[in-house]
Amino acid sequence: MESARGLPVSGRFSLGPADRVRPARYEHDLNRRLQSTTARQGDPVSPEPGTPDRAGRLAPTGAPADRLTTLWEAVVAKDPQHSDRYVRRFETMREQGADLDGEARLIDAMLSRHSLVLDAGCGPGRIGGELSRRGHQVVGVDVDPVLIEAARRDHPAVTWLHGDFAHLDVLGTALRPAGSAGFDAIVCAGNVMTFLAPGTHRSVLSGFRAHLAPQGRAVVGFGTGRGYDPEQFFDDAETAGFATVQRFSTWDLRPYRRDSDFLVAILSTAGER
Ligand SMILES: C[S@@+](CC[C@H](N)C(=O)[O-])C[C@H]1O[C@@H](n2cnc3c(N)ncnc32)[C@H](O)[C@@H]1O
Repeated sequence: MESARGLPVSGRFSLGPADRVRPARYEHDLNRRLQSTTARQGDPVSPEPGTPDRAGRLAPTGAPADRLTTLWEAVVAKDPQHSDRYVRRFETMREQGADLDGEARLIDAMLSRHSLVLDAGCGPGRIGGELSRRGHQVVGVDVDPVLIEAARRDHPAVTWLHGDFAHLDVLGTALRPAGSAGFDAIVCAGNVMTFLAPGTHRSVLSGFRAHLAPQGRAVVGFGTGRGYDPEQFFDDAETAGFATVQRFSTWDLRPYRRDSDFLVAILSTAGER
């Protein structure tokens, strides 16, 4: 049974067999696999959106061919049905009445009406779709084409981009209109940070920083036992130019402690503490 607070709100949610592997061994195995799946340095930028890369995967729009493969993609490479099951699992939970909107409610409460929001690692669009329904202008980016397809099917009003947000700049005006001041909020929820390509956390956070409006905030949530240490995250966020202005252990804002198994961090660029 789901908790009254709803499953993603608590953050204590098992995503499936691939995610239950112990983090250290998991990273080790994936790193070995990545050595064989990462394209050569110096390869040209992917020529056409929607063209498969050398390994036969659909290349994310505009990303350089030598981009690092994310841990999520490595999971999918090993288990090609993983994404379909992920989509179906959330569909089933929604049919069963689970509360899947906790993250969206928090983000909505932080925003003025009709704000511009980036859903980074949007998956099948659970969070961005709900934020759009609440009147915000949402752009979702995800590197998994199966999940982006599901998001487009279920939430056609939203701009869903098949891209790697380690390379946000190459998405250009598809990401946000030229001349816009940036996103009012970036939400990165559902353990996305633990599925990045190893070694890209800092540059991903710098990309978030660069695409936020001056008063904008990024909200990042992930399980603390999944291979990305929260202290490292705080350090990476500061290096990227963020202040961590609040930290919680759930999306309904329970306090964060050093032994919390989940972190929801609110990052600001405005120098507030
Ligand atoms: C566990 S899923 C969470 C999806 C969604 N946020 C949710 O809560 O339902 C993690 C997602 O992060 C995405 N992801 C990881 N690294 C990424 C990157 N560098 N660029 C784009 N998407 C990425 C994966 O493709 C995957 O869809």
